[in-house]
Amino acid sequence: MPKLEPLFNPKSVAIVGVSVDPNKIGSVILRNMIDAGFAGDLLPINPKYTNVFGHECYPSLAQTGKQIDLAVISVPADKVLGVMQDAAQAKVKFAVIITAGFRETGAAGGDLEQQVLRIARSAGIRLLGPNCLGISVPGSSVNASFAATQALPGNVAFVSQSGAFNTALLDLALERNLGFSHFVSIGNKLDLSELDFLEDFYADPQVKVIGMYLEEFSDGNDLVSMIAQHPEKKVVILHPGESEQSKSAISSHTGSLAGSSRVIKTALRQAGAIQVETFEELFNVLWILEAGFKVTQNTVAVVTNAGGPGIMLTDMLVKAGIQVPKLSEQTQSELKQVLPPTASTHNPVDLVGDALAERYASAIDILEKDQSIGTIVVLVTPQLVTQVEDTAKLVYQHMIEGEKQIVPLFMGGEFVEPAIKRISSYNQPVFQYPEQLVSALGKLLDSKTPSVPNLILPIQGKYLAEVDAQTTTELKPLSQGLVYQMATEAGIDLPRQKLISTMDELMGFVGEVHYPVVLKARAEDILHKTDAKALYLNIHDVEELHAAFSELSTTLTNQNPGKPVQMIAQEQIGTGEELLIGVKRDGRKDVYLPTGRGFGHLILFGKGGIYTEIYKDLASVLVPATTRELTQLIAEPKVGQIIAGARGKAPLAQDKLIFLLESIQKLVLRYPQIAEIDINPAIITTDRCVAVDIKFLTQL
Ligand code: COA
Repeated sequence: MPKLEPLFNPKSVAIVGVSVDPNKIGSVILRNMIDAGFAGDLLPINPKYTNVFGHECYPSLAQTGKQIDLAVISVPADKVLGVMQDAAQAKVKFAVIITAGFRETGAAGGDLEQQVLRIARSAGIRLLGPNCLGISVPGSSVNASFAATQALPGNVAFVSQSGAFNTALLDLALERNLGFSHFVSIGNKLDLSELDFLEDFYADPQVKVIGMYLEEFSDGNDLVSMIAQHPEKKVVILHPGESEQSKSAISSHTGSLAGSSRVIKTALRQAGAIQVETFEELFNVLWILEAGFKVTQNTVAVVTNAGGPGIMLTDMLVKAGIQVPKLSEQTQSELKQVLPPTASTHNPVDLVGDALAERYASAIDILEKDQSIGTIVVLVTPQLVTQVEDTAKLVYQHMIEGEKQIVPLFMGGEFVEPAIKRISSYNQPVFQYPEQLVSALGKLLDSKTPSVPNLILPIQGKYLAEVDAQTTTELKPLSQGLVYQMATEAGIDLPRQKLISTMDELMGFVGEVHYPVVLKARAEDILHKTDAKALYLNIHDVEELHAAFSELSTTLTNQNPGKPVQMIAQEQIGTGEELLIGVKRDGRKDVYLPTGRGFGHLILFGKGGIYTEIYKDLASVLVPATTRELTQLIAEPKVGQIIAGARGKAPLAQDKLIFLLESIQKLVLRYPQIAEIDINPAIITTDRCVAVDIKFLTQL
């Protein structure tokens, strides 16, 4: 039995705060329950009345003397605690708190909310809200919300953090005939969050697709692993990002490129969720999925009665990353047999302006047999002879009976309106604007199948105690010596190097590694070495060595007067590409523990060097990522092409780069205290990938 069964399918529903005034929210909820046809016990609660809208009204929950599955609370905020005590006494199972005026209004509201939670926890009451619109489950005739309309029954489960978003979606859904299995407003998520609902939605065979509007994630890590484990049911998420970005105060320079919005996008993409950016996209993607669309191969055939719109649509599809491939010889020759000589049998297939419904039918029949096509877009424009209704009927027939997924586009206004109405009245998606179709299809075909990483958590890091000793609530760099030890433990290829203070020590080191060498300041002394002239590359002889040593000594003494000079001498890595690898943690140190919240560590990858921030050509992946995902990560920014061997040059050691990225993953899982890593540059040559400059920052 689903955990939330008494909430989804209650036998008795009490509404606290009903009134004889039909416009009070409590009254609207009672009315909505009656209109939904709820067959269980409906129990209005208000001590002022004995009867409301023909229903016996009780002074309190406890005085109903009944087992109450669900109590909907719609009284002002200062009365909610009293009602919760009453609910505890009445042993209510679930409560929906509609009332606003809690955490969202400030500290006092937050305290009140916590008091409500304490009562709920000690009485075993599960809570939805507060500050929510309520819940509607059409399949069990429940509409415990104050929405202006009733949701139609269907297969979309929708959870939203904004009540207004719910009502807008519902309004559009009614017009287009889209139905819902569950329609939930989660408000402040004081107790039940999107995670609780997701768990039940996955277990419910009636739910075909899940939609979410979320402003913040209760636990990113849990959400992502839940979604990744259920590729059979798509989750469509709209997450408005700007507010997230402004929240993050990020210090180091990789951090400044990694807003939390990037973390969320990366995590959701990796999990296989479909991310949408607009209300329209959210609706359209849910609509298409509800109709049974399966995300298969990313290839589309367009069949149309209009050359121009067909070409325009093809351009738009291609721009959105959708393939519009050449049709097979077989398909083309079959098309030629049934189409007039003026028609085009390429993709888009142009049936020409006088195409009647039958011509569409013959072309679709042939296209359905072409194995290289995943989806057929049927584009109909209004021509004098176009049989709008007949074509709509025939397209619908193919949509439900045919072997291929079909998405109809009736482009135009008044003339095509009957087709739009007819197809949507059959519970199938249909579009009027090519932009809407392309953006929805693009989101669908772009969503990926999650790959579950086989990264078994490594044994505990050897240096845990030392790292802990240096980790505080402040974001701070770890000492370079410890960084070196931890990186070596993880198997990271580092340049040979030595901490030196004198020219003699420097000469000794050069004797071991040979020229050319590098001389530089320690990270804890100077953060941006190029800017502060604290990095000397390609030192070829003793003269250059002397010059670099004395200049750097002066710089360091000026920076930290009185402090003994220390610098790093390093072997110079041969010619290769400079890369940047950054890591940024979302959440705290406990992010991977059951109690932790957040998405975990994000790896950023791109071209390294001093212009990284200018190019902003970075790709990202969330830890733990599979080898396949790491390979895709490398290929995404432009530098990936150079690594693969561009313009006749030998390919660089991609396997070593993957090994480095895997080592970094192990490292952050061993030491979740690491809040940021900055490797800039890592140099990739034909046989090595060396972390030349490496910095770790920790924070609790
Ligand atoms: N038990 C039962 N009934 C009670 C009660 C109690 N302990 N305390 C008060 N009532 C009754 C009142 O007497 C009143 O009935 P009456 O008008 O017949 O006298 C009824 O409950 C409603 O109380 P009232 O004080 O009139 O409040 P209201 O209905 O104007 O507003 C809320 C209550 C909850 C709607 C309001 O406080 C609120 O939070 N509004 C915002 C809701 C919102 O936006 N939520 C988020 C949406 S996304």
